[in-house]
Amino acid sequence: MDRPYPPPALLVLLSLLLCLCLLHGQRAASAAVVTSGTGDGSELWGYVQVRSKAHLFWWYYRSPRRASSPGKAWPTVLWLQGGPGASGVGLGNFLEVGPLDVNLKPRDSTWLQKADLIFVDNPVGVGYSYAEDPSALVTTDWQAATDATELLRALAGEIPALPTSPLFLVAESYGGKYAATLGVSLAKAIRSGDLKLTLGGVALGDSWISPEDFTLAYTPLLLDVSRLDDNAGDEASKKAATVKEQIAAGQLADSQRSWADLLGFIDKKSASVDMYNFLLDSGMDPVSASSSSPSSPSPASNAQLTKYSTYLGTQAADSGSNTINGIMNGVIKEKLKIIPKNLKWQELSDPVYNALVNDFMKPRINEIDELLSYGINVTVYNGQLDVICSTIGAEAWVKKLKWDGLNNFLSLPRQPLQCGSSRGTKAFVRSYKNLHFYWILGAGHFVPVDQPCIALSMISSITQSPAS
Ligand SMILES: *[C@@H]1O[C@H](CO)[C@@H](O)[C@H](O)[C@H]1NC(C)=O
Repeated sequence: MDRPYPPPALLVLLSLLLCLCLLHGQRAASAAVVTSGTGDGSELWGYVQVRSKAHLFWWYYRSPRRASSPGKAWPTVLWLQGGPGASGVGLGNFLEVGPLDVNLKPRDSTWLQKADLIFVDNPVGVGYSYAEDPSALVTTDWQAATDATELLRALAGEIPALPTSPLFLVAESYGGKYAATLGVSLAKAIRSGDLKLTLGGVALGDSWISPEDFTLAYTPLLLDVSRLDDNAGDEASKKAATVKEQIAAGQLADSQRSWADLLGFIDKKSASVDMYNFLLDSGMDPVSASSSSPSSPSPASNAQLTKYSTYLGTQAADSGSNTINGIMNGVIKEKLKIIPKNLKWQELSDPVYNALVNDFMKPRINEIDELLSYGINVTVYNGQLDVICSTIGAEAWVKKLKWDGLNNFLSLPRQPLQCGSSRGTKAFVRSYKNLHFYWILGAGHFVPVDQPCIALSMISSITQSPAS
């Protein structure tokens, strides 16, 4: 949900290019699993062929703080980026929670302090992952989950620490839909004895679990914070109602188009509010201003094109001169050695985004219910300032859970949280049984970027990290 509806012509062109590149690439032809890494084993990376013509790239970091105490195993976090089509190996790793920032300087708030980390370019076709043929791209969240389950089956053999480390799926944005389906898929494979892993929990950061609930929340939220007026609000509400009707009628591709149309309308009437943080204008950000293409096909695309990564890029651009595109197609590619020479890393893959057109607007609330019914810890965390996956939208879908603990959960008081030496409330948390909800104050869509201190302490609690 990070950009609406790229033009079909672009899709075809990009798919063709990708395909041609790979046909002429220098990839080793046969091996299903290619693993490489640093000499000391602190980093491992590789490709797993999860299906015919479908290759997923992953990158594992072992924590230098790795320790375990009796009854408290050292955790592993698998980061699932959104989009659909955005690269976790690039964005999540170098712009959000990995050990190095885009200037390749250590990140103080890296989650590696609390857990081992795995980044994956998921699904096939994203980032360094690739499909040998466009027909091998996934068209549903469930296909993505099946591929990622195959990946983890292979990684249980490739990463020595993984089989004894509780695995936490931590998602952002569209990644929440992968976390929901992958969580169910892993839980089933583990229960049947088919997969030797422990699923520690699932965490959904500003996650696109119920497109309808988020869409319906845009107008009330933007009215409340003075970013729309009543006249525009009436029109926006009508457009949101159309989205809802189309979802109910199973017209999912149409509903996605209507949703993109609504985003374009909001952009126009709000003087380009940043859908990832309502305190900002998207036009304020010089990177997105310079990168929006004059040939953009529709007002909606104009409004949201490239926003996903430019928000992150702007946050990271304070010092140093590296760009994420520069390092991923330069020093990082050189370091990893196994990336096909002709593969061009992109922040977000249009073909992958477009291939999911019939699944994009489908909710994944039932999968969250299934995880809760298995007793798996589910954490929802949401940035206060996000619009695209707003907190009121997340609260709305949580209230639709059929889980029998829901009423008790909703009746409990919240606990305020502070962080580090700074005073003031940074978050609220509420937990009942295996459902946990964090309200992160002062953060937009990209919680670890906007509030690194509380995000780190949250991940420590979620994973029950033995690190002090
Ligand atoms: C769920 O998380 C809590 C801590 O938040 C922990 O005490 C509990 O053991 C976890 N349950 C499972 C099944 O992992």
